[in-house]
Amino acid sequence: MAPHARVFFHDLQPDAGSFLEDVIAGLSQPQKALNPKYFYDERGCELFEAICELPEYYPTRTEMAMMRAHVHEMTRRLGPGCALIEYGSGSSLKTRALIAELGPAVYMPIDIAAAQLRKSSIRLAEIFPDLLIAAVCADYSRPLALPDIACLKTHRRVIYFPGSTIGNFTVPEARQFLHDARRLAGAGGAMLVGVDLKKDHGVLHAAYNDTQGVTAAFNLNLLARINRELGADFDLAAFSHRAFYDSAAGRIEMHLVSLAGQWVKLGGYVFPFRAGETIHTENSYKYSVAEFQDLARSAGFEPEECWTDPQRLFAVHYLAVPR
Ligand code: AVI
Repeated sequence: MAPHARVFFHDLQPDAGSFLEDVIAGLSQPQKALNPKYFYDERGCELFEAICELPEYYPTRTEMAMMRAHVHEMTRRLGPGCALIEYGSGSSLKTRALIAELGPAVYMPIDIAAAQLRKSSIRLAEIFPDLLIAAVCADYSRPLALPDIACLKTHRRVIYFPGSTIGNFTVPEARQFLHDARRLAGAGGAMLVGVDLKKDHGVLHAAYNDTQGVTAAFNLNLLARINRELGADFDLAAFSHRAFYDSAAGRIEMHLVSLAGQWVKLGGYVFPFRAGETIHTENSYKYSVAEFQDLARSAGFEPEECWTDPQRLFAVHYLAVPR
């Protein structure tokens, strides 16, 4: 059998028009804002992978170590032969240990970044030649109708959402997302979700202000993408990266700061910027274990187990859907 004879791609990608509309709407608000889901073009994915390797960025390696340490307990909870659906699969690195142990009936990675989804699915098929992979290119932050695959109807559905990407939603968005995920998992299904914990503010600040400037490059790449794909004329040298922890809101905020008064052209519009004015590009919420369990309950899940690392940097929650 060819190494990727059991990989199927389903393209449910939104059209480019919605990117332009979202950017125009975001730059028209009093506090200019862009949706962080647009960070992930090909260059953005590469930069995010580089962030995950940074000494200051603890979440990825902490969660990976937890997945290795607790994979047996997690597998016992999820049950062998389930249909494993992963939101925001990216490079699928964290999932390998889980797939090896779990042996799912089908693995459905869902991601908006098409090129990376293809590459990582083919790589996974080389590692697990017997695994059925149904990759879906889609914006999972919106309600989804999944492709009609028999295994999804006959096997217990488990949703895997690692990386604390849930922290990039506002709290009401996260609640709505969990609510939709619960419906998709269905009665008797479950969700395994990685969530960054509240912690020392210095540790958080350093994670989003690395000394090598990779996070700054990741943030600025959003403007480069808007220039390239939407024909805007952002001068990248006239904006700088800013990230800080807002303890009242419990979140890191990332912004791009305009270094001068300037105008930016896009799609027939002109957007004025004052010196010091910012574009809010990302929130990254941090939740205590109890806060996240309360949020999950409010979306109809039953939080049944939570693993944390010895330094209490990161949590992985097992949430069951009541029958
Ligand atoms: C993808 N997401 C969970 C990352 C985070 O930490 O919020 C994105 C990121 N932004 C800057 N560094 C990493």
